[in-house]
Amino acid sequence: MSEITTTEIAPTIQLTQHQIDCYHRDGYLALDAITTQAEVAWLREIYDRLFAQRAGRDVGDQFDLAGTDEEGQEATLPQILGPSKYAPELKQGLFRANALAVARQLLGPEAQAHGEHAILKPARIGAETPWHQDEAYWNPMLEYNSMSIWIPLQDVNLHNGCMQFVPGSNHQEIVPHHPINNDPRIHGLVADQAHTEGAVACPLPAGGATIHTNRTLHYTGPNHSDQPRRAYILIFGTQAKRRTEPRSFYWNENKTTARDQRAEEARRNEEQQPM
Ligand code: NI
Repeated sequence: MSEITTTEIAPTIQLTQHQIDCYHRDGYLALDAITTQAEVAWLREIYDRLFAQRAGRDVGDQFDLAGTDEEGQEATLPQILGPSKYAPELKQGLFRANALAVARQLLGPEAQAHGEHAILKPARIGAETPWHQDEAYWNPMLEYNSMSIWIPLQDVNLHNGCMQFVPGSNHQEIVPHHPINNDPRIHGLVADQAHTEGAVACPLPAGGATIHTNRTLHYTGPNHSDQPRRAYILIFGTQAKRRTEPRSFYWNENKTTARDQRAEEARRNEEQQPM
């Protein structure tokens, strides 16, 4: 499912049984450190370079999660899918070794890397990421057992868009979602009626991490600070199974994003290359 290679670096992190129990009960967990400050500084440099170069824009891997993403329009929530495709040095690193170790403690020894992305909230204009469940973006035919490990590359708090979770929401099915502003040109999804009473915010130091399941309701607020808010997200899972009960994620069926058009165009151009 992924071209990401397993890193050779030995992990330095091990969850306690209490942390494991909290994760399964509440659907999320916060860790103060998943990597070193030196590695955070290294990651930030690569991260900023990829966004400055607009890496992956041509093939639909870089796009605005919160807007219509037309050319020349400033993105308020730019995202890069698969950043290590554009900076292969990211396939190494303690952050990745520790993330895999944590994923295997929580999901089982067969857990593998399933993908990664980077979500940037630019200084002052960075938009909120509305309440959603990650699985709402995925294939409705499959049953997932996966998690996202969300790593901030600077301190995060309510002022610049730290993670917020609804404890226990991991035990519910996928609720109906719709595109942001009900606009099918926008990639980002919003849960129709998120019950967010009791939501917990998770401020963290740079190089910490939050972990959440594919069903946990989560949110990050706008970035009101004068610095960019950078988050690097690694996804892990066991092999998804075919569901016996069908379901419809109708909110994805009429999407017509500029990002999909760029990806489609890139695929067509590639097919037309002479062998
Ligand atoms: Ni999410």
